[in-house]
Amino acid sequence: MEISGKVALVTGASSGIGRATAVALGAEGARVAVADIDREGGAATVRAVAEMGGEASFFEGDVSTPAGVQGLFAAVEAAYGGIDIVHNNAGIMTGDAPGWPDVALEKIHLVTSVNAAGVMMGTGAAVRALRKRGGGAVVNTASVAALGPMPNDPMYAATKAAVVNFTEACAGLAESENIRVNAVLPGMVDTPIIGKTGDGVNPAEWLRPAIEATTMLQPEQIADKVLELIRDDSRAGAAELVVQPDTPRAAEIAAAAEEG
Ligand SMILES: NC(=O)c1ccc[n+]([C@@H]2O[C@H](COP(=O)([O-])OP(=O)(O)OC[C@H]3O[C@@H](n4cnc5c(N)ncnc54)[C@H](O)[C@@H]3O)[C@@H](O)[C@H]2O)c1
Repeated sequence: MEISGKVALVTGASSGIGRATAVALGAEGARVAVADIDREGGAATVRAVAEMGGEASFFEGDVSTPAGVQGLFAAVEAAYGGIDIVHNNAGIMTGDAPGWPDVALEKIHLVTSVNAAGVMMGTGAAVRALRKRGGGAVVNTASVAALGPMPNDPMYAATKAAVVNFTEACAGLAESENIRVNAVLPGMVDTPIIGKTGDGVNPAEWLRPAIEATTMLQPEQIADKVLELIRDDSRAGAAELVVQPDTPRAAEIAAAAEEG
């Protein structure tokens, strides 16, 4: 589908991958709804889109609650008259101290609410909005963590596996609703989420070996894949990997992704 002239809603757009996608969509001529719980970061994203000559506005919305998701979509539809593209991207890791298995139950609930239920509710709200326009495209952010065990943050990996399975199950919406739902599975990307696993700036000790073993991707590389999935009308229910070739187990990961 053509991106220029469309309305795109990006969650988790105040930082990292969501910001890069918002900027790329804005540069392509979409009107971008920058959705997040972080107002300050959102304002910076709106400025970054404007610097590329694009149009964007910030919408405060918590994707982990039904009211947050409903309010967000209603506000964007009211402001722009409809929505054509949704990137369900907001996500969190469980963080450090105490980690699994001593992690607080509230934390488990939060991670699953944001990463899994947030994507499911966001896709449901997207379908209701996009069908009013005769169709559209949804991209859900999963992770390579979906493809194998992650003993230090199994909650995170399990939510990402849920996003992949959920997205694959949405493939049929392409035919029934003209809505293509796909997922992107990034490897390690240089964004603030890495530091949030530890003290907010420095990553958790358990994550260091994985960071040292690979070259970090840049958020713009993930944004490129997101835009590719939006444009390509042949893709629905796909889980697309973006990893550095030097990622440990890269071949194994690619094979797992291929198997679906
Ligand atoms: N950085 C990586 O290595 C990596 C790898 C694979 C997948 N991912 C995934 O990419 C997505 C984006 O992560 P990032 O790396 O850009 O991290 P980030 O921390 O830079 O950005 C995440 C954004 O989500 C927002 N957010 C958190 N909870 C929210 C909520 N309840 N409602 C709305 N917004 C909320 C945050 O405020 C933040 O702006 C996440 O789903 C993450 O799991 C990241």
